Amino acid sequence: MKKKVLITGASGTVGWSLTHRLREAGQYEIIATDLEEDEARGIQALDMTDAAAVREAVRQVDTLLHIGWAEDNEDFLGKVLPINVTGAYHIYEAARECGVRRVVFASSNHATGYYSTDEQVEPEDPYRPDSFYGLSKCYIELLGRLYADKHGISSINVRIGNYPGDRPPDSQRAMKIWISERDLAALFICCIEADASIDFLSLYGTSANAGNYYDIGYLKDLIGYEPQDDAEQLRHQAEQQYGELKDDELPLQGGGFTRR
Ligand SMILES: NC(=O)c1ccc[n+]([C@@H]2O[C@H](COP(=O)([O-])OP(=O)(O)OC[C@H]3O[C@@H](n4cnc5c(N)ncnc54)[C@H](O)[C@@H]3O)[C@@H](O)[C@H]2O)c1
Repeated sequence: MKKKVLITGASGTVGWSLTHRLREAGQYEIIATDLEEDEARGIQALDMTDAAAVREAVRQVDTLLHIGWAEDNEDFLGKVLPINVTGAYHIYEAARECGVRRVVFASSNHATGYYSTDEQVEPEDPYRPDSFYGLSKCYIELLGRLYADKHGISSINVRIGNYPGDRPPDSQRAMKIWISERDLAALFICCIEADASIDFLSLYGTSANAGNYYDIGYLKDLIGYEPQDDAEQLRHQAEQQYGELKDDELPLQGGGFTRR
């Protein structure tokens, strides 16, 4: 029987790429959801802040890909806390109540954006959020830790680098932490399929970029992730589209987020 995989935020940049790639892969029964229904794309309405609706939707689900996110990341009291943090809580609570095996959360590199660009940061290193956005990712990653320890729900946090959809990366920094659509899909499939012994894991999600901030080579042995792409393939296209790529690194990995 095919594993049932529910995706939140399926209409968004990351969510839609995962939805159509995972449908194409054919090995899962996909339930694609977002705030608004999109009949043409087979996306059902599901507001992650509606606890009862989330609970209803995740019955019989094996893996939850929690990608949904309300923008305006620095509106801590208006958006981040009441929608994104609360929504993640409802996702984990529903997972606990309905016996979901694993939650894979779209976290972010901004959970550790205050590390300097010449440091090699590992996922186990202390959090250094560069914004309320990054801070909320840290909190939700730890929500996963709590539900893994207390309730046995396997939780994987993918700290996505830069995924601009069908556009090329637009800065020197983005080039280093970019992930292609096929690598993104492959990585999430690896997370769904990762060994049952993995109860909790945070990892950086990028392609095999020249100058990558993160050493992701160990992911091949750990979960079978072998990225195929490198942002350098898109440099020419990026420069044609944006002109010379700006260097927005500062000396810090979070780039411009550290200035917000
Ligand atoms: N794109 C990137 O480069 C990148 C990098 C790091 C992390 N991420 C993370 O990946 C996730 C998706 O990012 P994205 O770029 O696709 O964003 P996006 O804004 O394109 O997609 C987010 C989706 O979530 C939906 N959403 C908003 N409120 C909701 C609610 N209450 N209930 C259900 N769904 C709701 C939106 O309608 C939207 O379709 C986010 O958590 C983001 O922080 C993305």
